Amino acid sequence: MNPEILLAYLHFLALIGTASLLVSELVLCRPGLQGDALHRLRKVDSAYGAFAAATLLTGGMRLFWGAKGGVYYLANPVFHTKFGLFVAIALLSILPTVRFIGWSKAARRQSGFVPDAAALARVRLLLRVQVLLLTALPLLAAMMARGVTSFR
Ligand code: HEM
Repeated sequence: MNPEILLAYLHFLALIGTASLLVSELVLCRPGLQGDALHRLRKVDSAYGAFAAATLLTGGMRLFWGAKGGVYYLANPVFHTKFGLFVAIALLSILPTVRFIGWSKAARRQSGFVPDAAALARVRLLLRVQVLLLTALPLLAAMMARGVTSFR
């Protein structure tokens, strides 16, 4: 198989996994969350991190090994925006990850542990913002794929 097609396929698989796991977090992380659901959420979040890393890796491989070559993307403001949004999503995912680990540990120590309602609401907001930013990435990718090199 043409390596470029294989890389495009792997990038799609990685980003489908990333998006599905992020939405699963939003579904799991809701008021009344406790017990096993807290441990499940921590595991889903680890998988989310792993798929996001695979998205970065396959995206990086398309960047440097794709037909257009690295120079095309590295000088392209559309790519800068795409990469910047990806980094923003990664930064926004730090606090939820810290909370999920803490809640899972607390649930192990104390049966019937329920996360603080305000902290849960903050985490849900951060997850929603990540989903929103994620929806912009395929648009930017489609622009790059069709040779768009500016927003004008
Ligand atoms: C969750 C984050 C990401 C999403 C949702 C995403 C989405 C996509 C999509 C849908 C395409 C196919 C566009 C098309 O053929 O019409 C694509 C292509 C591409 N992506 Fe990503 N991507 C993500 C992260 C990244 C990252 C982090 C990088 C770079 C490090 C990257 C680099 C690329 C490159 C180089 C292409 C090929 C564009 C072209 O054909 O010229 N992507 N991406």
